[in-house]
Amino acid sequence: MGAGTVKTINYMDSSNFISKSLRQEHLKKISGLRYEDEEKYELQSEIRNLLKKNNALLIAHYYTDPAIQDLALDTDGCVADSLDMAKFGANTESNTLVVCGVKFMGETAKILSPDKTVLMPTLQATCSLDLGCKAEDLQLLKDQHPDREVIVYANTSAEVKSIADWVVTSSIALDVMDRLMSEGKKFIWAPDKHLGNYIQKETGADMIIWDGSCVVHEEFKLEGIMNLKHLHSDALILAHPECPDKVLNISDFVGSTSQILNFAKKTNNLKLIVATDAGIFHQLALQNPNKEFFQAPSSGKGATCISCAYCPWMGMNDLLKLRDVLVNKDNEISLEENILDKAQKSVKRMIDFV
Ligand code: 13P
Ligand code: SF4
Repeated sequence: MGAGTVKTINYMDSSNFISKSLRQEHLKKISGLRYEDEEKYELQSEIRNLLKKNNALLIAHYYTDPAIQDLALDTDGCVADSLDMAKFGANTESNTLVVCGVKFMGETAKILSPDKTVLMPTLQATCSLDLGCKAEDLQLLKDQHPDREVIVYANTSAEVKSIADWVVTSSIALDVMDRLMSEGKKFIWAPDKHLGNYIQKETGADMIIWDGSCVVHEEFKLEGIMNLKHLHSDALILAHPECPDKVLNISDFVGSTSQILNFAKKTNNLKLIVATDAGIFHQLALQNPNKEFFQAPSSGKGATCISCAYCPWMGMNDLLKLRDVLVNKDNEISLEENILDKAQKSVKRMIDFV
């Protein structure tokens, strides 16, 4: 199958461009284009054999290296949003899960499947939302508002999940909130303020909102997106709810990574501007060979790079580290029993809700 086209730069004043080769070098470093074909195929074949030998499955997020996404799909694993990654890990028979994404995704897999071995190519891949929400700080806020339900985003540590009443991902946050509001509840929401404000605006929920954000989505710029829209007035704008409200307000569709992919497949519109991590363009292009995708700009006027929407932590997953973890079996997720038991309650609520 052919792939749809993905465009990054075609709308700014040429004085803002860096040279093509410099730009390609930069993109190579920060995106998935890291390997020469031969090296890539060799590593992929080695990993395929190691997965079989270890009865292991790959669970990858849409933001990871396309070479990892291809391998996951090709070996009966999955490429998914954070909710479906969690569900896949919990439902598979395989006793070793290799989670390619960021640490909270590996921890969620372990929380749901404590008896399985959960490995990750690196344990250093964290998330700015996780880093900005410490369990002790959330506990203090919870103690000040004992009348409120604590709802946390999946992008948090197991310890934070252990003190929450509910865990949600962006794909079900609105539905969970609707249900809890109908029970007359009030909330503490942590840690993503943009997603929190979006939920508040859509549902009217009474929420105290934590001041956290995603370093990648925070950078999408209204002005740049509008400039792009002027050039392609027939394009629809799709955005992840971690984007600032100025971006969400002008978007035609707001949803999780899976929801963005579903929308892109269903719409008859052939041009789509997408505001989320650039890793998603691999599946967007594969699934929609007839459509044209534009990366929403994430940099301001005068910048040398137009869109740098690559999560640095997702980018730490690469084929070499993936091969190594299957050989060495290090980088295993382990959680304190007490934390795991408590976190299981709030995470299971999320899984049982859907
Ligand atoms: P999704 O649940 O939409 O996959 O989002 C996870 C994430 O980390 C977005 O930045
Ligand atoms: Fe966290 Fe943002 Fe990276 Fe998602 S893209 S893992 S929210 S830092």
